[in-house]
Amino acid sequence: MLSSPPMKHRLGICIAGLDGAVASTIVAGAALLRRGLTQPLALLSEPFVNSHALARWDEIIFAGWDTRAENSYDAARRNAVIGPCRLKPIRRELAALKPWPAAADRIAAFRRAHQLDTVVVLNLLPTGQHAASKQYARLAAKHDCPFVNFTPNDCGEKNLRHVPFAGRDGKTGQTWLKSVLAPALRDRALHVTGWYSTNLLGNDDGKIVGDPVLGEAKIRDKTKLLGEMLGYEPVHKVRIEYFPPRGDTKESWDYIEAEGFLGQPIQFRVSARYPDSILAAPMCLDLCRFIALAARRGETGNQKWLSLYFKAPYAGPPHDFFRQEQLLRAYLAAQL
Ligand SMILES: NC(=O)c1ccc[n+]([C@@H]2O[C@H](COP(=O)([O-])OP(=O)(O)OC[C@H]3O[C@@H](n4cnc5c(N)ncnc54)[C@H](O)[C@@H]3O)[C@@H](O)[C@H]2O)c1
Repeated sequence: MLSSPPMKHRLGICIAGLDGAVASTIVAGAALLRRGLTQPLALLSEPFVNSHALARWDEIIFAGWDTRAENSYDAARRNAVIGPCRLKPIRRELAALKPWPAAADRIAAFRRAHQLDTVVVLNLLPTGQHAASKQYARLAAKHDCPFVNFTPNDCGEKNLRHVPFAGRDGKTGQTWLKSVLAPALRDRALHVTGWYSTNLLGNDDGKIVGDPVLGEAKIRDKTKLLGEMLGYEPVHKVRIEYFPPRGDTKESWDYIEAEGFLGQPIQFRVSARYPDSILAAPMCLDLCRFIALAARRGETGNQKWLSLYFKAPYAGPPHDFFRQEQLLRAYLAAQL
């Protein structure tokens, strides 16, 4: 018996902030994947492409808005997350992608021109741009597009009730590790007395989130979840330092003070160094593929099963990565 060919699903991804560090890594990454020039690593969605008819790389079309008006090749070069040699074979493709002017209402024409089954709006605006983020959420609602908010910004989510949405604030590096380590310390019955986290970041996002006023929402998102996971509030300090020489390659240090058997002190130190956008980009691609699945299934409102991707998920706890991951697996298993 011949098995039926996998269902085709054409997915449009409209990115608010198309020329940013994360967005240009997404677009370049998808182009490299489409040409088979890299392996699909760090993508939770990849094993579900056939079973759940998720969009393949050659079925994903990008568009979006930016105030910079730079094409995606120039944006990728400026953001310098992916080296020039790796960009060479996809140069022409990236150079052809130019952002729409900020907030231009072009979604319907984009959907028609590319015969898209679903168009997802992905918010990657700078931290603190609440009013502009709401504009893009309104455009998503107007055109029945699922909406993903990877930023800490307030997007007026209450206006999105009739489409599926997911957010807030991507849980990429330090906070993701915290949501892995804190449940492990709790389940080992170690008593955490203090947790000090610091970050050095030198890209445009770092300039904003390193500012004590503009970065307030980010610090809040990075701080809130620890007490919920442990069940009590240790001394918890989170710092972000804008340090231009680090560029997009973030450095983070965590110092954890705990008490073990007989009240003896135990200390853990975790240091990490990684390009921030390299962690963020595959998560955004997963989110777009998964939320398109939710849209196809007629889901609306907050998608709790996507909480593992966020520092401050709209639905609140659990923040524990493994419990969140079970929610994702359970949702996907229920679709089989
Ligand atoms: N990199 C990560 O690991 C990570 C993790 C969690 C959250 N985030 C969030 O993702 C967002 C994007 O991060 P990034 O590093 O790509 O930032 P970025 O500053 O490099 O990119 C933002 C882009 O938005 C554009 N922009 C500004 N105003 C606009 C408007 N009104 N309309 C359209 N475009 C506009 C800018 O020109 C810029 O190109 C930030 O809010 C950040 O906090 C990033």
